[in-house]
Amino acid sequence: MTLLIVAENTLSASFENRLAHYTARVADALDKALPPAKQPPKRLHDAMRYAVFNGGKRVRPLLVYATGECLGLNEALLDAPAVAIEFIHAFSLVHDDLPAMDDDDIRRGKPTLHRQFDEATAILAADALQPLAFSVLAGARDVAPTTRSRLVKLVADACGSIGMTGGQSMDLAAEGQTLTAEEIEHMYSLKTGALIHASVVSASMLTEDLSGDRVSALDAFGRTIGVAFQIKDDILDIEGETEVIGKQSGADQRLGKATYPGLVGIDEARSRCDSLLRSALEQLDDFGGDADSLRWLARFIVERGN
Ligand code: IPE
Ligand code: IPE
Ligand code: MG
Ligand code: MG
Ligand code: MG
Repeated sequence: MTLLIVAENTLSASFENRLAHYTARVADALDKALPPAKQPPKRLHDAMRYAVFNGGKRVRPLLVYATGECLGLNEALLDAPAVAIEFIHAFSLVHDDLPAMDDDDIRRGKPTLHRQFDEATAILAADALQPLAFSVLAGARDVAPTTRSRLVKLVADACGSIGMTGGQSMDLAAEGQTLTAEEIEHMYSLKTGALIHASVVSASMLTEDLSGDRVSALDAFGRTIGVAFQIKDDILDIEGETEVIGKQSGADQRLGKATYPGLVGIDEARSRCDSLLRSALEQLDDFGGDADSLRWLARFIVERGN
């Protein structure tokens, strides 16, 4: 997969093995959490699986596992937040691609869900993925009940009007408008950053042994790398080829989106990404070698090709 290919020069073999292991682990957990494709209503369940198993990079689950690794947590505890956040992410992409939003035909190199099925099925599949995420969190038997409810609140806030959904609303309202760099970064921190931040913080919620300083450092790491993720997405929209990024390139300009590279140019956007990466990495200094997987993921987020 692309994530591993991009990494091959910088990764030790053992770390590469862990990434493959986490990717396989989350695929298995996602599969178990989804209703079987043959279970009625079959078209809906097929569509939910199409939204989830369709070539995503799994950056958010990988952040959950990498943060857990940094904190020495048992992997079994991490499956529920990894799966729940990936379900929310998958639902957000299905809605994002609808004609009423970004009106995209290609996602991950394949027809978008409403193109492959139909619009109503796309709306319903996303509708069903969202509560399934909370069902997974509420049913996480390995996690203490008080932590479970904290996780539900974390993911609900990251998903709702003060998180991803609010950011998506701001993104649509900004079409054809000129925003300041600060306004664009605020929008990014919600539409994309909220779920990325929640991926890191969900793992840190699973331990009670963390100092206040370490909680804050991981919180800041998640926030910073989340904004960098969206700036990089916008750079790829301009520079990437459709076949490589798996999405129609140039879509942001066509829609008059307010983007960071659109405002300041591609070179300045790249340097903002690099400076966000540096400050995200600084947050990990105190964790030493335990944070190597997180460091790798942070670099991947700004260096990736898709
Ligand atoms: C795409 O996210 C949407 C944004 C938030 C920019 P990803 O690039 O993580 O999408 P997949 O899951 O890997 O396809
Ligand atoms: C979407 O941002 C962020 C979401 C919350 C889904 P984009 O609209 O730029 O994502 P892509 O480029 O379609 O993946
Ligand atoms: Mg969008
Ligand atoms: Mg889009
Ligand atoms: Mg984009």
